[in-house]
Amino acid sequence: MSKITSKIMSNETGSTNGGATSRETIPTISFSHQHAAAEERKKAYPYRFPRDNRRLGGKYSVAENARRLLRYFYFERRLMHGLGAWALSVPEFEVKLEIGRHIFYHADAARLLRERLHEQEIRLKDIDGYRNAEIDRFVDEMLSAQSAPELLAGMHQVLGVALATAYRHHIDDTDPVTDAPTIRCLRRILTDYEPMLAWAEAAVAAYVEGGVEEAGLAVWRWHLQRLLASIGGVTGSDERATAPAPLRTDSKPFTRGTAPLRDCRFDTFKNTGDYDTADAQERFPKDSYENLRLRFIRTQRDEVDAIEAFGTFCYDIRFKDFDSEYNLARITWDEARHTEIGHRALLAAGYDPFELRNRLVGSTCRGPMDPAFAMAEINLFGEVGVLKTINNLVDTAADRNDALLEHVADYIRADERTHVRKGQGILKVMTDLDAKSLELRTRELFAECLVSLGALKKDMDVFTVTREDIEYLVGE
Ligand SMILES: [Fe+2]
Ligand SMILES: [Fe+2]
Repeated sequence: MSKITSKIMSNETGSTNGGATSRETIPTISFSHQHAAAEERKKAYPYRFPRDNRRLGGKYSVAENARRLLRYFYFERRLMHGLGAWALSVPEFEVKLEIGRHIFYHADAARLLRERLHEQEIRLKDIDGYRNAEIDRFVDEMLSAQSAPELLAGMHQVLGVALATAYRHHIDDTDPVTDAPTIRCLRRILTDYEPMLAWAEAAVAAYVEGGVEEAGLAVWRWHLQRLLASIGGVTGSDERATAPAPLRTDSKPFTRGTAPLRDCRFDTFKNTGDYDTADAQERFPKDSYENLRLRFIRTQRDEVDAIEAFGTFCYDIRFKDFDSEYNLARITWDEARHTEIGHRALLAAGYDPFELRNRLVGSTCRGPMDPAFAMAEINLFGEVGVLKTINNLVDTAADRNDALLEHVADYIRADERTHVRKGQGILKVMTDLDAKSLELRTRELFAECLVSLGALKKDMDVFTVTREDIEYLVGE
């Protein structure tokens, strides 16, 4: 018989567990021959790998972990919607582009948290169905900003900073071994947050240097900080402060803007969708390659209106279907890239991008419209319309050794094909109409809008406006 060594582990706290099983009552039963043999085998092991010093522990049970993650998820989802609600209303070009990107950062944060929550055994239905009236009240107040700098002050400098801090604390406080996937999830989110919040600090400073009153922003930040504190902060676990009063939303509930805004560098037009008509003269012969090339690049820069469209849809279909919200957020970022590509390609073609007039027809029509028809226009007409001509354009650019156009159109083609594919699923969530009825109603609504803008003659029968007319005049 081998000798049995029984070791009673010391109890750090000295407390007993009221009769429940504890380290005090469970002996360690180690067989000495096995213990000694293990020692011998370890001596024969030659490798000294890096030591992993992570320790078991952490502050949270699975339930508490999930409670916190669910609040983070909800904040991220509402930030994606909320930035989308402001896509039309931010005038400054650089800020509108950045917002297009940030909508996706928040959507992707929500996606990562949703996956982790599902692994913590919360059903997707319950994650997606989660609502929090206190958080809604805070977010709606934050969205009631009266200007773009106030929006950034609330979204990034108050809530963004509070979320980043909560994520870092969570990383420090949770168990690094049992809950390692949560730590990885939060670290990945912070990878987007760090440049996003740094940009926002610099952007608010630029607004202040450019003449925006700093005190007004500070008052607004303080107001929102107190409101966030009144709901126990991001986690809901902080000591609650008294809520500030009155709230802007008390007198006027938040509603999104419907008119597309541009900064003072832009010269806009909405009485036509045709650039030569807008310029009142031609640069190149109508069907020449040179004309198609410039039109393509200008259209990309003018996809600043596609950031507005898809961003707005994220808000308008909020809580309908997470995957559709996520896909819309991703398309919004893509459109921000197309706008950047267009801006840079205009520079590379020798233009000052602001000397070329900006087409505002699309956003003017789509802004106040039911999202299903606005989406049908931009996706089924605009994006499908791009695909009709882009293959030819890429081939011609290659034949002519036009490396700039070949390069950018090649990437844009891949994006737009992806948008057309994703659009099918999104449209199904937005409307029950069959394809034919959807197209007909969309044509009617856009024909009416084009007439009201003067882009089509009043006596034109709206039913004679073809989808090709809309593709050309409104586009993506
Ligand atoms: Fe695009
Ligand atoms: Fe697109």
